[in-house]
Order: sequence, then C-alpha cells, then structure tokens
Amino acid sequence: MQHLTIVDHPLVSHKLSIMRQKDVSTAGFRRLLREISLLLAYEVTRELELTTTRIVTPLQEMDAPTLEGKKLALISILRAGNGLLDGILELIPGARVGFIGLYRDPETLKPVEYYCKVPSALDARMTIVVDPMLATGNSSVAAIDMLKARGARNLRFLCLLAAPEGVERMREAHPDVPIFTAALDERLDDHGYIVPGLGDAGDRMFGTK
Ligand code: URA
Repeated sequence: MQHLTIVDHPLVSHKLSIMRQKDVSTAGFRRLLREISLLLAYEVTRELELTTTRIVTPLQEMDAPTLEGKKLALISILRAGNGLLDGILELIPGARVGFIGLYRDPETLKPVEYYCKVPSALDARMTIVVDPMLATGNSSVAAIDMLKARGARNLRFLCLLAAPEGVERMREAHPDVPIFTAALDERLDDHGYIVPGLGDAGDRMFGTK
C-alpha cells in the first residue's frame, strides 16, 4: 500500500474548502468535520479483511461477505482527534476506541505522555490513529511508538490536513504506517501551523481560543 493517500473525492475537497474559511461557525466546522470523517473512514478501511457467513435471504441461503477478525481500534490523539471520532463511529459503530494524550515538554520540546487508555489485543486489530492535523509529526510518531509498544502491528494514520514535514517525519519513523489525508498543504509556518491550513483545529471544533 502507498505511504500517503490523498482522499480527493470532490465532496471531501469541497467540504474541506468550506472548513478552511475563517468565518465558519464552530457548529458548522464540527458538522463538516463529522461529514468528512465519514468519507475518510470509507477509504481508510478499504483493506479490512472479509470472510463469508452463511445467511438466509427471503429466496435462498448464501455465503455472504462479512468482516473478519476482531473489531478495529480507533485511537484519538487528544484533544483534536475526538473531532474525527464521531463520524467514523457512525460508519463503524462496533469499533473499539482508545485515547492518547501528549503534551510538549517546554525544555526538550519532545512529546510527553500524560494519558493512554487503549483497547486490548491491539496485535489482532486494524488500528487507526486519528488526529486532524499532521503538522511536525512529533505527536503522531510518539503515539504510534506507544501503540507499537502495546502490540499494534496493522496501523493506519488518518488526518484531515498534512504538511510535507509531518509526512516525511512519519515516513522516516514509521514507513509501515500508511497515512490518509484529505489534503497535503504547502508547509509549516514558524509556529508549527500548517499553511494555508485552517488554523487550530481543536479551537475551531470546540470553540475555544
Ligand atoms: N495543529 C493545528 O491545530 N493546526 C495546525 O495548523 C497545526 C497543528
């Protein structure tokens, strides 16, 4: 599978362009994020394995395709990752959900774990890490390090916007983890924001600032 997939379905691109605009309301931003996350979830789960189950239709029996194996795990990187969860859970209501909290140490600038609660048996689940903005890649790399240490092997990273710097950092640290994004933007600015981007995703979805 390729390392970076840009999900450029016209509906995704159109909704993202609305979300980028600075005067979109918090409610509007959240609604669009939920809608886009449904469409992204469709792409990121394309490789889920199928088996067949014997079922009975009104006309006859058949071997019908059904998902195989353990329920997949969705891991939200707090806090902005939660904005992607709702839409994905609408499509995959049985998914198991975990949360990872990281803060940046002011001296070393390295991500430090402050919370981690993830589903069991990660080695047997497709594990999708969600965070809307892949900027420097530091927190994504750290979160995936934590998940691999807990057994996760079949990982995907799902975001809304990616910067080339973050994609490169992920490619170096975790070349085995495919990235799915709605767009690849130009660059990071001096404060680590994605340009042209959409600002602080957490502030925009939760109405903080
Ligand atoms: N996090 C955000 O919320 N926005 C950015 O542009 C970069 C990181």
